[in-house]
This record gives sequence, structure tokens and C-alpha cells, in this order.
Amino acid sequence: MSGNRTPPAPPITRTDLRRYRIRRLWAITALVLGAAILVGAQSRLPTEPSKGGFLRIILKRPPEKPPVWFSHQLHEERRVDCHTCHHDYQGKRNQWRQGMPVKKCQTCHALGTQVGRPDVKNAFHRQCKGCHLKRRQQRRKAGPIECQDCHRET
Ligand code: HEC
Ligand code: HEC
Ligand code: HEC
Ligand code: HEC
Repeated sequence: MSGNRTPPAPPITRTDLRRYRIRRLWAITALVLGAAILVGAQSRLPTEPSKGGFLRIILKRPPEKPPVWFSHQLHEERRVDCHTCHHDYQGKRNQWRQGMPVKKCQTCHALGTQVGRPDVKNAFHRQCKGCHLKRRQQRRKAGPIECQDCHRET
């Protein structure tokens, strides 16, 4: 049983080596460029909230509900800490602190179901309605919990 011997590997030539080196150079350049673009995108994320505005989940279908008006200023006046709403979990700990760049909720909370975290609609509803509901139960001043009081054009 010795009919099919594997043919010897072809010798490595100078041209092969040069091609390999050029390819390696391209790979390194691409990596460096990629990293630079990532860092650039990170540092362009805002660290200060805008004056207030409409929240909108970017959907693949037309939205069912009118957008939600959200005011940072009002929540700051009611002494809700930034890191109550903004987070970046490392393990179970929220590492996000004021002054750090803020990603959109949808960067981490997808449209579809995810393991270990709510989808983006539930993320908003749990955070916003969750607090308003809890404060009402504690008989403290709170924001709305009815659909039309959050989802309104003005
Ligand atoms: C009651 C919840 C809540 C509190 C408190 C809060 N934020 Fe936000 N913030 C949000 C939401 C919601 C968004 C919009 C996120 C999105 O579009 O995905 C946002 C967006 C931002 C953005 C992105 C730019 C913008 O305005 O859309 C920055 C920066 C930011 N917040 C910083 C802060 C800082 C600093 C504080 C504390 C002084 C703070 N936030 C307090 C909920 C909150
Ligand atoms: C950097 C990624 C990231 C961003 C940005 C982010 N989340 Fe989360 N969020 C997570 C992860 C991871 C969990 C799961 C945490 C755990 O282990 O329980 C989570 C959990 C939650 C939960 C359930 C647990 C809790 O903390 O109450 C809510 C609600 C939530 N996020 C809302 C939001 C909202 C609203 C925004 C935007 C203002 C947002 N998230 C932005 C990663 C993120
Ligand atoms: C940790 C608690 C907390 C969270 C989280 C929170 N809110 Fe509020 N919200 C409040 C409080 C407190 C008020 C002020 C109630 C008052 O003084 O009448 C308020 C008021 C409001 C109002 C009423 C503003 C007005 O003009 O009367 C709206 C709308 C609102 N919140 C939307 C949101 C949305 C949207 C989110 C999620 C992105 C959110 N809130 C998250 C505590 C919270
Ligand atoms: C405390 C404020 C608040 C209340 C109350 C609330 N929502 Fe929302 N809802 C939000 C926020 C914030 C978003 C994300 C921003 C957006 O997409 O408008 C959202 C998103 C949604 C979306 C996904 C976007 C779309 O329009 O298709 C639906 C559907 C929705 N809400 C339905 C409801 C229904 C139904 C109720 C009442 C049972 C309700 N919401 C009550 C704050 C609220």
C-alpha cells in the first residue's frame, strides 16, 4: 500500500517571500487604520447632554407611537444622577461615570431579544416607566406612566 505518496512541497522562492512580506505590510496597515478609526469614533461621542429632545428608536418599520420628549435638565433638577440612566457594565458593576462618552442605548440594546439584557424598547420602558412607577408607589413626584403622556408630538 504505497501507491499514493504526497508530492514534496514546492520550494519557497524569493517572489513568494516578497509577496508574503507585502501582504503582511497591508495587513498591519489595515489594522492600524482600523484602530485609528475606532478611537476616532469613540472620542467623537458626546459627553454632555443636549438641551432636550425627542427620543427615537431607529426601527426597520414605521414607528407605532409618536416620539417621546425627554429633558435632561428636568431630570437633573429632580436630582436623578447621570449614572442612574447611563451605564457600561463590567461584570455586574456599572463603570460609567459622568464625563465619559455616551453611546446610544441601541448600541447595546438590540431590536430583537437578547440574553441577559432587555431589548431596546423594554430597556427604555423599564428605565423610564420603572422609575416613574416606583416613585409613585413611594408617593413622590414622578413622571408619566400612561402611553400618551410620554408618546406625544409636542
Ligand atoms: C433619566 C435618565 C437620564 C439621566 C438622569 C441622564 N441621562 Fe443622558 N441620556 C438619557 C437618554 C435616554 C439619552 C438618549 C440615548 C439614546 O438616544 O439612545 C441620553 C443621552 C445623553 C447623551 C448623548 C447626547 C444626547 O443628549 O443625546 C449624553 C452626552 C448624556 N446623555 C449625558 C448625560 C449626563 C452628563 C447626565 C448627568 C448630568 C445625564 N446624561 C443624565 C437619559 C438620561
Ligand atoms: C455599553 C452598553 C450599554 C449601553 C450603552 C446601555 N446599556 Fe443598558 N444594559 C447593558 C447591559 C450589558 C445590561 C445587563 C446588565 C446586567 O448584567 O444585569 C443592561 C441592562 C439594562 C437594563 C436592565 C437592568 C437595569 O440596569 O435596570 C435597562 C433597563 C437598561 N439597560 C436600559 C438602558 C438604557 C435606557 C440605555 C440608554 C440610556 C442603556 N441601557 C444603555 C448595556 C448597555
Ligand atoms: C430615576 C428616576 C427617573 C428615571 C430613570 C426617568 N425619570 Fe422621568 N421623571 C422623573 C422625575 C422625578 C420627574 C419629575 C416629576 C415632577 O416633578 O413632576 C420626571 C418627569 C418626567 C416627564 C414629565 C416632564 C414634564 O414636562 O412634566 C417626562 C416626559 C419624563 N420624565 C420622561 C422620562 C423618560 C422618557 C425617561 C427615560 C429615558 C425617564 N423619564 C426616566 C424621574 C425619572
Ligand atoms: C415614561 C415614558 C413612556 C411611557 C409611559 C411609554 N413609553 Fe413607549 N417608549 C418610550 C421611549 C423613551 C421609547 C423609545 C423612543 C421611541 O422610540 O419613541 C419608547 C418606545 C416605544 C415603542 C417602540 C417605538 C415605536 O413607536 O414603535 C412602542 C411600540 C411603545 N413605546 C409603546 C408604548 C405603549 C403602548 C405604552 C403604554 C402602554 C408606552 N409605550 C408607554 C417611553 C415611554
